[in-house]
Amino acid sequence: MNKPVILTGLRANNDLHLGNYLGALLPLIDLAKSLAGEYQINLFVPDLHSFTTPIDHASLQETVMNNVKLFVAAGLPIDNPDVHIYRQSYIPAHSELTWILDCFTGMGEMRRMTQFKEKSAMLQADRVSVGLFHYPVLMAADILLYDASYVPVGDDQTQHLEFVRVIAERLNKRFKQELFTVPKPVKEQHTFFGNDQGLRIKDLVDPTKKMSKSSTNYKGTIFLTDNPDTARGKIMSATTDSYGRISYNPEKQPGVTNLLDLLALLSAQPIEEIKKKYEGQIEYGPLKVTLGDIVSKFLVDFQRASISVDTNTLLTKLEESERLMNVQANTKLHLVQQVVGLRG
Ligand code: TYM
Repeated sequence: MNKPVILTGLRANNDLHLGNYLGALLPLIDLAKSLAGEYQINLFVPDLHSFTTPIDHASLQETVMNNVKLFVAAGLPIDNPDVHIYRQSYIPAHSELTWILDCFTGMGEMRRMTQFKEKSAMLQADRVSVGLFHYPVLMAADILLYDASYVPVGDDQTQHLEFVRVIAERLNKRFKQELFTVPKPVKEQHTFFGNDQGLRIKDLVDPTKKMSKSSTNYKGTIFLTDNPDTARGKIMSATTDSYGRISYNPEKQPGVTNLLDLLALLSAQPIEEIKKKYEGQIEYGPLKVTLGDIVSKFLVDFQRASISVDTNTLLTKLEESERLMNVQANTKLHLVQQVVGLRG
């Protein structure tokens, strides 16, 4: 019996930020530490996803390797044989399965994707690529090739995850067999990860938006590679509000609520404790100072860990995982090719 799979991917279109870390990387690593043995853990760089929107291609290789290093610096136990790290494009089955799934996906389904609407609205019309349009299908292939049951992602990926369930069920029904493991319902996944919902860390300058790699204002995003003092400065100048009283209220006071969330997550304290301590205070400065210190210390430790990652060990692990994942992915691809009539 194969072990159930927990899988996630983080694009390498830029350096990773605190939202990526808290929304996807940390939950996966916590599970990898506590559950490897019972589960197979896949953490990969969806490098093919990296240029659905325009990037600097000359630096992609470097960014990919930096991000893989950050996975290890964040504590991924790569010496565990149930833990795999890989680059998507090194496993060609991802692209092949995408094409097959594309042919079972409706244009309308993709058009409804909020992320496509948001991202395409930010680009000039002639820069909106077909890749950006159907990237949830590539994401479905990433997940279904390995029969993943659990996929820790931030809230912005919930709609894509729902689509993965829909397409998996559609093909299972159409070909009257359990071709793919359908990932668990998203609510059930959150319970498994110990959250009520996917996380959405907000931009520090405009807290009505999510913290993002492609934000045009880098003052709103804390990158894991930021100078710790610069990051502290970003916290100190974070947008709050003019209510003059701290309250945990995502609608009315999104900025200060985001700071409270960050403090709870980075200090590993329950949000209720943090609320008890800060709600009702009439000055926002002390909260910012405490969080600024925690963020800066977090980055110092993280970057120190990142420098000490041994590149040779990392490359050996990548190559070994990519060899193993090619075997797993090709087995699934072959089965799909058979049912759609491409193989006898
Ligand atoms: P990407 O690369 O944009 O983001 C990586 C992960 O970080 C989460 N995230 C956030 N979480 C909380 N607050 C934020 N502000 C925030 N910003 C980003 C994202 O939800 C994501 O979990 N399509 C995916 C990558 C992908 C993938 C997959 C994920 C490709 N194939 C298969 C899981 C499984 C993406 O663009 O994430």
